[in-house]
Amino acid sequence: MKSKKYYITTPLYYVNDKPHIGHAYTTLAADILARHLRAKDVPVHFQTGTDEHGSNIEKIAREKGVEPKAWCDGISADFRELWKTLNVKYDHFIRTTDPAHEAGVQAVFEKLIKSGDVYLGSYDGLYCRSCEAFYDEGELKEKNCPVHGKPVEHVSEETYFFRLSKYEKPLLEHYEQHPDFLSPRYRAQELLNFVKSGLKDISISRTKVAWGVQVKSNPKHTVYVWFDALLNYATGAGYNPEHVSPDFNTMWPADVHLVGKEIFRFHGVIWPAMLMALGVELPRKVYAHGWWTINGDKMSKSRGNFIKAEDVVQEYGVDALRYFIFREVSFGQDGDFSMDAFKRRYNADLANDLGNLFSRIMNMAAKYLDHQLPEKPEGSVIFGEFKTWTPEIHRSIETLQFGEALEKIWKAVSRLNHLVNERKPWELAKKDPEALKVFLYEMVWCLRLIAGWIDPFMPDTASRMHLQLGVGRPADGTEPQKVPALFPRKQDESKPARAGLDNIVPPSSPSGGLKPKDIKTN
Ligand code: ME8
Ligand code: MG
Repeated sequence: MKSKKYYITTPLYYVNDKPHIGHAYTTLAADILARHLRAKDVPVHFQTGTDEHGSNIEKIAREKGVEPKAWCDGISADFRELWKTLNVKYDHFIRTTDPAHEAGVQAVFEKLIKSGDVYLGSYDGLYCRSCEAFYDEGELKEKNCPVHGKPVEHVSEETYFFRLSKYEKPLLEHYEQHPDFLSPRYRAQELLNFVKSGLKDISISRTKVAWGVQVKSNPKHTVYVWFDALLNYATGAGYNPEHVSPDFNTMWPADVHLVGKEIFRFHGVIWPAMLMALGVELPRKVYAHGWWTINGDKMSKSRGNFIKAEDVVQEYGVDALRYFIFREVSFGQDGDFSMDAFKRRYNADLANDLGNLFSRIMNMAAKYLDHQLPEKPEGSVIFGEFKTWTPEIHRSIETLQFGEALEKIWKAVSRLNHLVNERKPWELAKKDPEALKVFLYEMVWCLRLIAGWIDPFMPDTASRMHLQLGVGRPADGTEPQKVPALFPRKQDESKPARAGLDNIVPPSSPSGGLKPKDIKTN
């Protein structure tokens, strides 16, 4: 039997608008975990995709004067383009308009009608179009949708219900027996309270929405978008109740569903109840992270504070974005995104701490080691100590504590910077060339360790480092290629930029002795 893959998912993003850094956040988290596991030879299946049905999408497409499918094709492609730009390596991109997914949703619906977990009735309730969800009076904020702050509508229609109430007890039992199922724990209580307060059956079909998966046995109904979309996690892995693909058994159960906190309830309550109704094993974990605001405000186009990942990447590079969003805020908590904070961290942590350390060492290595491959520094205290950090860093990543992992890595970077200042290799160069060599060997090996650690976060930077550190030395014995500074310093707007120079001669380095011989300045 093939071994089970570690199955990681992101939400399926709505195609009602262009992607922004909030979407990038979840997908990058999934990518970091996936890359980390693959590097440990764990087989991984990482799925993301787009959520394309529903009245919202239908309405937007109509406003733009295009067919819903054509609209979806365009935005769905924008998401895929963004993942390419951000160096995201997913295994499968699912669209809820994929025929296999639609067929799976239809088969699930029929199966649940037969089993009695789905039944026909009529609904009378308060509906938010933007959420595509119904709310109780008590859940509203000043009579508006608690998520969007927009008025809700009174809706009455014939609808199929899903017997959610039946799963109240089984859900509570499951939460109790699987304390990590709802993560992080500080977000679980809200869901527990919600379930304990009593679950009502939920409406899962619409007669007024044409753009959706038709109910096979009653085609005037289309399946409610959330019921449709949640099923992607199973259908995308090969599930269809009529014919389960053998692949499904190598992927299911999903190991972690990564979601934003606003959709935790759908994933922590409704989705597991749907799976129970289908007799399918539950996912191992649903992890809800926090929300990014922009300069203190909710991210939205109307407020004009909608940050596109592409814009950040254009100015700072992909890896700086991949670093910042996980270093700035602990994964789980809410955070505020500002370009000022971004630039501060870019200059301090990346250009200065890591970038300068790296170029200082590489320049010295080029000058004093004459491109010899450094020997492993057997007696090195610092290298010995750093090696013991690897399992801790891995554990932080595996428990989705990305910020903790980066903090630890930067602690190592800062230790190395101190060591350089303390040992003053530029003095050793004159006084004790042998000691200098040993010191540089140590530093090169420590930097290799660091390059390995940052690899899932900053794959491009890691491979540039590895290349220069001799790991990628061509087999034919030619010299490793020179690469430009890892993170060119960003100038204050008030001062004119001096192309790259700051990266080559660090502000703290003594003038004289250490001038690199053959560094390009662009
Ligand atoms: O909810 N901060 O799709 P969606 C952090 N289609 N994360 C954010 C964010 C922010 N400001 N904004 C968005 C849907 N996200 C449904 C999901 S799943 C079966 C169906 C991220 O396009 C976060 O992961 O509104 C959030 O849960 C998701 O994007 C919502 O994307
Ligand atoms: Mg949303």
